[in-house]
Amino acid sequence: MAHDTDALKAQVGEAAARMVAELPSGSLIGVGTGSTANHFIAALGRLPRGHVGGAVSSSEASTARLHAAGIRVLEAAQVERLPLYVDGADEIDPRGHMIKGAGAALTREKIVADLAERFVCIADASKQVAVLGRFPLPVEVIAMGSAQIARRFAALGGRAVVRAGVLTDNVHPLLDVHDLRIDDPLALESEINQWPGVVTVGIFARHRAHSALIAAPDGVRRIDF
Ligand code: A5P
Repeated sequence: MAHDTDALKAQVGEAAARMVAELPSGSLIGVGTGSTANHFIAALGRLPRGHVGGAVSSSEASTARLHAAGIRVLEAAQVERLPLYVDGADEIDPRGHMIKGAGAALTREKIVADLAERFVCIADASKQVAVLGRFPLPVEVIAMGSAQIARRFAALGGRAVVRAGVLTDNVHPLLDVHDLRIDDPLALESEINQWPGVVTVGIFARHRAHSALIAAPDGVRRIDF
């Protein structure tokens, strides 16, 4: 039930905020986007004021929530390294590879992940899969290249659909690619990254999670990859 899933997301958001509470006071962190990340941001707002020295945000939506929670938001360009990045996922496999981007924030998410020493994925157990690809793969593209990119996906057996009425924070369209079975996430991410017009593919293999906090009805479990 939707209500139960939201309660699990709230639990895992709290658990991630407890990890932040263990960092030295004044630490900088990276903050993701989506309904699970929203619970994390709310829980951050309940930490002692100033414990989080600042956050690099992965979207305009999360920036607004961070401000509302009283947390200082820094530009990515102001930061060289972040000890921790916390974000949700649409799917996560047994090695910490993820599909991300249902919330359209994948490009900024990958940029923040690239700054981070540790990526902690927060998710309810429904996001765990043996093989990535049941969830349609989001791809941010330059509009001019989208038809050719869709043809390239078709050649791999995928069906790319333009996400209607949505532009990213970077003002680009998104494709959602159905029917891909992603047996080798790192190889497919590398391949798609070569295609002209691809801004970001929502496979996070090179930037996979180092740990996951997974919420199930019997509690939150930590997995280290
Ligand atoms: C945002 O673009 C996504 O990568 C989210 O992290 C992902 O869609 C998970 O979102 P929920 O926490 O809302 O399920």
